[in-house]
Amino acid sequence: MKKFLIAGNWKMNKLASEALDFCKELAAQNLTNAKDVAVLVPFTDLKETKEGLAGSGIGFGAQNVHFEESGAFTGEVSVPMLKEIGVDYCVVGHSERREYFAETDETVNKKLIALLNAGITPILCVGESLEVREQGGEQTFVAGQILADFAGIPASEAAKIVVAYEPIWAIGTGKTATPEQAEEMCAFIRGVLSGNYDNATGDSILILYGGSMKPSNAKELLEKPDINGGLIGGASLKIDDFTAIANAAAELG
Ligand code: PGA
Repeated sequence: MKKFLIAGNWKMNKLASEALDFCKELAAQNLTNAKDVAVLVPFTDLKETKEGLAGSGIGFGAQNVHFEESGAFTGEVSVPMLKEIGVDYCVVGHSERREYFAETDETVNKKLIALLNAGITPILCVGESLEVREQGGEQTFVAGQILADFAGIPASEAAKIVVAYEPIWAIGTGKTATPEQAEEMCAFIRGVLSGNYDNATGDSILILYGGSMKPSNAKELLEKPDINGGLIGGASLKIDDFTAIANAAAELG
């Protein structure tokens, strides 16, 4: 049976008080696949998110982390800080961080290793720009990201990383990749991972699609064989939309 993860990426939205209300309401939905659902929230919302979700089985996490354990890095948050709060997940290398905050494959790789060492599941984002796709370079580009981001990580650890394929041209634009485009790239990524490690590792890694996933297109994306779920931005901010996407996965799982 195919495994799923439906993860909401709130980005820079919701005050801590709003997070508490939202998470209580989400917990009250009694999702049948709660353990396959998570919300990824601003640092300031982590405690309230944990409180609101308590006992629901729904996971939670952060959207970024620094790779050093502590030190003179003003404004940063470390893995031990996240660990103490008890996060399950942390997003790494989202395209917005790569674009606006100079995140590189080198820092992404260090963050993945730091999170894995602490037993926190990384959600690694990869994906090409519109310019790269229009030139037909999307596979070369994404394979390059995957190989650089996974550098030096052994198969046993690599299997714990969740990959999210997020074509930049589909993020927040309302322009979703077609299910065929999304499946093609998720299958390609699985092939790259299988080639770099082995088939068992490639098969076990969860590969999500992200970019304008919403209730109206979730089912057709989620039923594709190599798509193990979604990283959902805009539609994760509304209880009804997010619940509908989680339910779509539950029906397929
Ligand atoms: P979107 O964002 O669903 O709003 O397109 C997805 C993401 O950036 O993770």
